[in-house]
Parts: sequence; C-alpha cells; structure tokens
Amino acid sequence: IWKPILMIVLAYLAGSIPTGVWYSKLVHKIDVRELGSGNSGGTNVGRNFGGIAAILVIAVDVLKGWIPILIAKHLFPTIDWAIMLTGIASVLGHAYPLWASFRGGKVVATSIGVMLGFWFPVALIQVALLAGLVFVTSMVSLSAMLSYTIIAIYLFFALPSKIYGVGFLLIALFMMYRHRSNIERILKGEERRLNFGLNKPK
Ligand code: G3P
Repeated sequence: IWKPILMIVLAYLAGSIPTGVWYSKLVHKIDVRELGSGNSGGTNVGRNFGGIAAILVIAVDVLKGWIPILIAKHLFPTIDWAIMLTGIASVLGHAYPLWASFRGGKVVATSIGVMLGFWFPVALIQVALLAGLVFVTSMVSLSAMLSYTIIAIYLFFALPSKIYGVGFLLIALFMMYRHRSNIERILKGEERRLNFGLNKPK
C-alpha cells in the first residue's frame, strides 16, 4: 500500500509546480495572479503575456497531470483507486500548490492532462469539444467546464469501474468550484472573452 500512497504524494508535488506564477515572475518580474482575472493558468498568462507564453504554461500544466497518471497506470495497472487518486492528486496540487502558498489555478490544463493519460482518444475528443466551444463562445472557462463535464458523464456510464466515472465527475465538479467567480460573470454576461485578433476596433 505504501507504493500507491507515495505515488499519490508525488503526483500532488508535481501538480504543485506553479508554472504560470514562476513563468511570470521569472520572465516578467511580476506575479500573474496580480493581473487580469488573478488566475495563474494559461488563459490569464496568454491574456497578459501573449500566445507563446500561454502555450508554454499550458503544456507544462498538462504534463503535470499526464505524466503521473501514466506512471501510476504502469506501476499499478490493476489498482483502479491508485490510478484515479494519482490523477486527483495532480489536480489538487495545481489548485493548492505547496510551492506557491496554496494559491493555484482553476485546474483546466492539469485535468485535461489526467484525462490524456487515462484514455488518450477520449481526451482528444474532450479537447476538440473544448476548442469548438471556445470558437463559438470565446469563453475558455465555460468551454472547459462544459466539455470536461460532458466527457466525465460519458466515462461514468461507459466504464465498468465506477471509480473512474466518479473520479472524473469529482474533477469536473471541482473545476466548477474553482470557477465560482467565472460562473457569476458568465451568468451576468460579463465573462472575459478570448480575442483572436479579429473584430478589433480600429
Ligand atoms: O484557465 C482557466 C480558464 O478556464 C479561466 O481563466 O483567467 O479567464 O479566469 P480566467
């Protein structure tokens, strides 16, 4: 039992790497949590420092979820709870990072990483759905929550082991909890929208 527990702790520590915070402090001498939406994630990094910075931060945040669950699947292929809790631990690490005073992000990228490591093709569908919804709504928050929840519900009904169905539904619910302020803004019609550089006022 100590091996799965060690894996779960390591996943939390990996998830705790505060990519956005470290990137903004290192490169721009400012904490991204003081800018824009106050979030440390790729969306807010992109909003303030541009697309390349966003891609970099999102890539590392995705890997923080992806790599630990791949390792857990390799080490404990038959222990469902160990695999699922490793994924959940990465997500919790990203939200409450040990290395950044427990003020972390809204867990979109890291949760996608967990799904990529768990079941790659289904995760690709989730990412495609997310991209499509962003294209239609221009709201990353709404698109992330919707696409992740839809796939989590699918996993709940499709997989015989309910550990995974419940686990991914919990991640989806936790993602909504982390987006409380976004949900309020969405309902008021005041959520920040991504600007693809089109329709810019001249
Ligand atoms: O990156 C998380 C995204 O869903 C929302 O971020 O900065 O718009 O609150 P933000």
